[in-house]
Amino acid sequence: MCGIVGYVGPKRASDILLAGLASLEYRGYDSAGIAIAEEGRVDVTRRVGKLANLSAAVAADPPAGVIGIGHTRWATHGRPNEENAHPHTDCAGRIAVVHNGIIENYLELREELVAAGHTFRSETDTETIAHLLESLYEGDLTAAVAAALRRLHGSYAIAVLHADHPGTIVAARLDSPLIIGVGEGENLVASDIPAVLRHTREILVLEDGEVATVDANSVTVVDRDGAPVVSERMHIEWDLDAAEKGGYEDFMLKEIHEQPRALRETLRGRVGDDGLIQLSELDMTDEQVRSIDRVFITACGTSFHAGLVAKTLIETWARIPVEVVVSSEFRYRDPLVDDRTLVVAITQSGETADTLAGVREARQRGGKVIAITNVVGSRVTRESDGVIYTHAGPEIGVAATKTFTAQIAALYVLALYLAQTRGTLDREQIGGIWAHLQDVPGHVETILSDLSAVQECAAVYKDRYSSLFLGRGIGVPVAMEGALKLKEISYIHAEAYAAGEMKHGPIALITSEVPVVVVATASDTYEKVVSNIQEVRARGAEVISVATQDDHDIAKHSEHVLYVPEVPELLSAILAVVPLQLLAYYIAKYRGCNVDQPRNLAKSVTVE
Ligand code: M6R
Repeated sequence: MCGIVGYVGPKRASDILLAGLASLEYRGYDSAGIAIAEEGRVDVTRRVGKLANLSAAVAADPPAGVIGIGHTRWATHGRPNEENAHPHTDCAGRIAVVHNGIIENYLELREELVAAGHTFRSETDTETIAHLLESLYEGDLTAAVAAALRRLHGSYAIAVLHADHPGTIVAARLDSPLIIGVGEGENLVASDIPAVLRHTREILVLEDGEVATVDANSVTVVDRDGAPVVSERMHIEWDLDAAEKGGYEDFMLKEIHEQPRALRETLRGRVGDDGLIQLSELDMTDEQVRSIDRVFITACGTSFHAGLVAKTLIETWARIPVEVVVSSEFRYRDPLVDDRTLVVAITQSGETADTLAGVREARQRGGKVIAITNVVGSRVTRESDGVIYTHAGPEIGVAATKTFTAQIAALYVLALYLAQTRGTLDREQIGGIWAHLQDVPGHVETILSDLSAVQECAAVYKDRYSSLFLGRGIGVPVAMEGALKLKEISYIHAEAYAAGEMKHGPIALITSEVPVVVVATASDTYEKVVSNIQEVRARGAEVISVATQDDHDIAKHSEHVLYVPEVPELLSAILAVVPLQLLAYYIAKYRGCNVDQPRNLAKSVTVE
């Protein structure tokens, strides 16, 4: 995915575009560029690498123009070099385009345009849009964009600038997010809210197929048939502080520390005066809930791990069989979804292409789809039957942390609600679990109040090339999440296994150089976990255990112990993952890695 920003108003556009791109850089950071319209021409500046390279180039010769578009790229078509960086222009250099998404028929269009005499300078699909616009433009930019969209297949959010229209940006979207920030005498276009928040809290969310013509004093939106659309304005309550570092060294560390608040916000208001769990968002009658005979959970990456935690919760408490399928596989496996299936789509961004495709597939088959997401108004909220929001606030670090634990909190609520409605847990049992759940945010605060053990451990293992993560039961997805965090931000190879599986193969990897991280919190299988620890230690491995406070025995079996407060086994996932997030964070920091923007990754993946 990439970041898009556009500005038209009375101020110097380059300043606003660069600041906007800085808040979108988490969406992609292979290259960045801006185009400014001024004195009847469009000037483009692009640089490979981080935004700082572009900022330095612009600072050397700042353009005075008051209208422009900008882009930060996560490469899909074409390598991350300057030619492939956005904005892309037509042959005459009078039209500039920034684009997020993929144009699937770009090769066919490119051939056609080359045959008509157009000269291409990049390997990208996006450049096709600029030349297509050049071929269709007859004096009306909005009409040219609308005509071009009719030829494009795929997904896109675009913003377009033309030298002939130095007061207008035309923007459009299909399957890729795009918002308009509505200001006083100035307007903005962006792929995400933080890019406009310095200027306005009033936004319009463009819908699929819509085209917006944005001037300094007006925004006109038409649908794919050209009919005028009255878009509903949204007022954004959260402020920029929530999307800035607030004194922390990195967004990731800030977001790890925001987990107690995210958990409290996500659990807030979920139990009524009658002691019953409330979940009106499910929008199902009790009869419908009782008739569910299967749950599918579909998600990617960290959200998939939250889904694996939920499987244990729903099966244990509500006694419904649950299958958890990575979204990129879900729709291709002819899933057994019908009108008695509940499909839970977990996606913090709400814009992951594979998960959205799974949602569409499930609904087509008659399934009831409930989304769990952190982003109000995101794509998944529009495509699902119901939405449970995690109230974690904006997550900017590419590695998901607070949204993961908030997803699990939301899934506790869902699992308890299903159990309550189906009568598989009684009110007293639910009350007991809920009371423990209420303590979890405070327990996370306790873990975060002393980082010395995890820092010490990170310093010891920072230079290893490989690691194993083991767990049992609900500890398996925790181990998987710990391994994912470590590999994505520190680039150390990390593999997670159900601890009992280890002797069936992965134990061959064990040497004294490969540390083994074990989720060994109090559980019914604790003794077996300890046996697994002994198996790896017998082969020379050093063990880092995540264990329950006051478990002094575990220290005899481990080189390092990261303690977490005691909770019932099924509530332990949130607590056990926090030391693993911190371990990954400090190892990456000690290795000098950029934890907020790890190589090759983007915050959400809007392409399949
Ligand atoms: O926005 P989503 O929750 O749908 O994103 C899913 C994954 O792309 C995401 O969790 C990814 O694995 C993160 N980099 C994990 O830290």
